[in-house]
Formats: sequence, structure tokens, C-alpha cells
Amino acid sequence: MAMDLIVRNANLPDGRVGVDIGVKDARIAAVEPELKVETNQEIDATDRLVSPPFVDAHFHMDATLSRGLPRVNESGTLFEGIQLWEELKPRLTPEAVAERAMAYCDMAVAQGIQAIRSHVDVCDDRLVGVEALLEVKRQVAPYLDLQLIAFPQLGYYRYPNAVENLKRALDMGLEVVGGIPQYERTKADGDASVTELCEIAAQRGLLVDIHCDEDDDPMSRHIETLCKEVLRLGLQGRVSGSHLTSMPMMDNYYVSKLIPLIAESEINVIPNPLTNIAVCGTNKGSYPKWRGITRVPELMAAGVNIAFGQDCVMDPWYAYGSADMLEVAHMGSHLTMMFGLDQVRACFDAITVNPAKILQLEGYGLEPGCHADMVVFQAADPLEAIRLRARRLMVIRRGEIVARTAPTVTELSLPGRPDSLELTYKPGQPG
Ligand code: FE2
Repeated sequence: MAMDLIVRNANLPDGRVGVDIGVKDARIAAVEPELKVETNQEIDATDRLVSPPFVDAHFHMDATLSRGLPRVNESGTLFEGIQLWEELKPRLTPEAVAERAMAYCDMAVAQGIQAIRSHVDVCDDRLVGVEALLEVKRQVAPYLDLQLIAFPQLGYYRYPNAVENLKRALDMGLEVVGGIPQYERTKADGDASVTELCEIAAQRGLLVDIHCDEDDDPMSRHIETLCKEVLRLGLQGRVSGSHLTSMPMMDNYYVSKLIPLIAESEINVIPNPLTNIAVCGTNKGSYPKWRGITRVPELMAAGVNIAFGQDCVMDPWYAYGSADMLEVAHMGSHLTMMFGLDQVRACFDAITVNPAKILQLEGYGLEPGCHADMVVFQAADPLEAIRLRARRLMVIRRGEIVARTAPTVTELSLPGRPDSLELTYKPGQPG
């Protein structure tokens, strides 16, 4: 069978090297060494990692690229960020939100992301973000899968119209139910919100993604309630707990019961390393400070599916970010102290196959039959890609190149040394 495209001699994230990837009719048709068939187009990927695209399982696209509007976050804290967002919200227009979101989607594709799950604030009676992002989702669909969460940023019970607004947003077409129990007035309200939000998802056949225990309180235990409701309602595999930043502070005996419960509930866990380290563990200037990252290696060892999300890029909460999931994995690897080869591969999985499972993406991967979506890196393997936050030389969607970046090569003028340099250094002879 003649191919439309063959990516030659690629290294795959699972460790296979020198593999040809054949593409036919926008799907992967063959993955094998030395594919001997005719093709219309070839890409030489010798010594290059080729992976399925990045998937960002946790983002806030209604707020992205709004840094400085109406003013910058001077303290850099979570609370000034929330205050700033409330100042900006009444001024938002669907056109402005959509324009920033479209600009972000351009960056995301250039950086190798082809699917994003975004929370959308429904604590706005005009539902400006919902209207804007539904239109953005329609426009970007050819090159980016966008999954939208109805998210009551100011509390499902605490914000006066959130209960009604969340239902309106789901009726308009948002497909995931969100929540923020630790932001309710009391723990009891928080637990009750988790119960009601899971019931809504069960009735409507939707997925759930809760900002869960995103605080510095070692007694914040809404994840336990989330597990209980998943088991009661039969929602296994359809629910995610985002952040879980209280977990590193929890009592170890309690955690020894909690982790098996999370595994039994088949809840996905989504830490967000960049923003977690930025806004958690601040404990008002006192020391010691904790890392603000949940117990990733222990959860992974128990079989829990974990994705690293980006959360924020240039918004009221976080001034940095560049749609770079390798930067996210790099920070995730450091905060979790996952540096062994298998652990680094697990960090790469946490920005590719694991979030794809959370979003329940159809046809994701590099096996025959999958969509022909992939990224060619200026790096030989996942470790080098994360180490260098390597250039994404080509981004391929449904068999077509949708973004191309020249490799980084530095010209050198040093006596007796090579005249050019790539940072993809290979160790030479031993000793
Ligand atoms: Fe978030």
C-alpha cells in the first residue's frame, strides 16, 4: 500500500529506535523498521524523538494572556490573583476573550500541544467565557481538541448564582463538571458541593474535574469525599482530582489509607507543577516551606493515572509560561524528585499518553490505526527533550505539517573548536 507520508528512522518514547512511521488517509498505517513502500512525502527523523502530541489536562483559557489587565499582580500571590480576576471579569467581552484564546492556541500548536482541557469560570452571570470558548473550540477543531469544564471559580454554593450558571453552561455545551470545594465557606459545604456536582455528572453522563484540596491545609480532605462519590455513583475512570496540594502535608498514616482509595476509585490526578510551586506553600513568610506538589511517585506506584498540567500562562495568577509542556515536565521531574530513567519516561507520559486517557481522546498514539498526529523534536529521547525543553521541529496533525521550527544551531568562533554547536551533546569515550 503506497503511503501519503513516511517519517523515517524515528526514535519513539517507549525506547524503540530507527523506526519508520507510515501515514495513509490521515491515520498511522504502519510502524516498523525500513518500511519498503512508495510514498508521496518523506521526513528524515534520524536521531530525533517522534512522539504523539502533548495533551494539557489542566488549563484556564478564559484568563490566558490577560496579564497586566487591568493591572499586574504585584504580590504574585494566589489571593491577589483571584482579586485581579474579579476586577477584570466585568470588563471582559466575548471578542477579547476569544482573541486571546485563539492567540494562545496558535502558541500551543507551535509547541506541540494538540489537545487542551480548559476550565471556564461560570461565576459570571453573563457567561462571557463560556460563549467565547465555545466559539474558539469550533474554530480550532481542525488542529486542536478543546475540552471545556464548567468551573465555579468562586464556589458552587458560595457564589450566589453558580448553581444556576453551571447548569446553563452545561446546557450550552460544556462537557465536564468542575468544582472547588476548598473555596466554599465550610468543609461541610465543600463536601456537599462534591456530592452534588458528581450527581449532576452522573445524571448527564459527563466527566468530572475538581480543583481538589488546592490549599496549604493538611486537614483539607475533599479528595476522600470525591472517592466516596465516585464509588457510590459508579463514576470510576471518569473523574479527575486536580492539584491535591494538601497531600504532601497530610498525616502519613492517613495517606496510607487514602492512596489505595484513590486507586480503587480510578480517579485521575492532575498536579500542575509550575503554578503549584508558585502559589502553594507560601505560608505567609514563615519557614519551612513545602513543595506544593502532590505525592506523585507514590500515587503512580499504586497505579493511579497522573498528568502534569500547565494551569496558567500570563494571567492574573502566573506571569510566566509559554505553552511548553516540556517545561511543565521539567519542573514536575524536579519537584517530585523523579530522575531515574523510568521516572523521567513517566514524566514524559504525564504530558502525553496519561492526559490523553483523562480527556478520553479517540485514536491517540503512535500505533497503526491512530490519528497521524505527532511531533518531531530536536532531541533523541524523552530525557533529552525534557532536559533541553527541545525545539519542536515539526508538528504533524492528521498527516499534515501544521508547524515547523528551525533547529537551534549556534555559530561558534573559538580557536581550535568546531564552528557550530547543537546542545544535543552525546557522551563520548569513557574515562
Ligand atoms: Fe486551575
